[in-house]
Amino acid sequence: MSPIVRLAPSLNPMTLRAIPAIVLLTALGSACGGSSSQHPTTPPPPGLPDPQNYAASMDAKERYWWQQPERVVELLRCAPGMTVVDLGAGTGYFLPYLSSAVGREGRVLALDVDHSMVDIMVRRVQRQRLHNVSPSLVAPDDPALTPGSVDRVLAVNTWHHLTDRVGYAEKLLDALRPGGLVLIVDFDENSPEGPPVEFRLSPSTVVAELESAGLSAELLEESLPYQYAITAQIP
Ligand SMILES: C[S@@+](CC[C@H](N)C(=O)[O-])C[C@H]1O[C@@H](n2cnc3c(N)ncnc32)[C@H](O)[C@@H]1O
Repeated sequence: MSPIVRLAPSLNPMTLRAIPAIVLLTALGSACGGSSSQHPTTPPPPGLPDPQNYAASMDAKERYWWQQPERVVELLRCAPGMTVVDLGAGTGYFLPYLSSAVGREGRVLALDVDHSMVDIMVRRVQRQRLHNVSPSLVAPDDPALTPGSVDRVLAVNTWHHLTDRVGYAEKLLDALRPGGLVLIVDFDENSPEGPPVEFRLSPSTVVAELESAGLSAELLEESLPYQYAITAQIP
């Protein structure tokens, strides 16, 4: 289980041009679930959390009540034996839930563009003995999935990080097996958690992007306190 190593930045070049480094780092932390109400030792720009909390915010205990990981995995409709991709898996918050949902015969491909996240996931996999989970470093524009090989793709708080989202969705469509499903969970416009509002995507934008890629997308009525959930399937 050795991670594939391909280094790549995860931020939009437009964003890089527009925002100073400290704001970027801070926003990245916030994008992973940091609350804008945190008060770090060195004050960040108004409304943004401490960049050092980037990984810690993903695994924060208090995340559980609003993230509802069991509910998210239920929405993904996994079955034993399936191959599931966790796209932008971060520290691997969802990996124990996904691992258990697909069982011994299933596989979980945990993909991220950040090698430090992949390292954290490799350690989690060892510590929690998640034998069916493989963390991999991927390029920002390509999940490097074999065509027709994947049953489920989960992207939590990650879709807004992608640059060419329609192109990326086309790659996911190509990777899906018949009956395959993509589930995108991302922050509501008014959520107290999540990235600054200018980084957030409306559900209608995400649905339109997925449909432009040739998927059939639907905003689920069942919603989480701070996030929306969208499924996409082969039409
Ligand atoms: C906000 S964090 C979410 C992590 C995890 N899904 C969770 O909910 O805890 C977003 C993650 O997506 C990763 N990421 C950003 N762009 C990506 C891309 N193009 N492909 C794969 N991962 C990406 C980041 O490195 C980061 O770990």
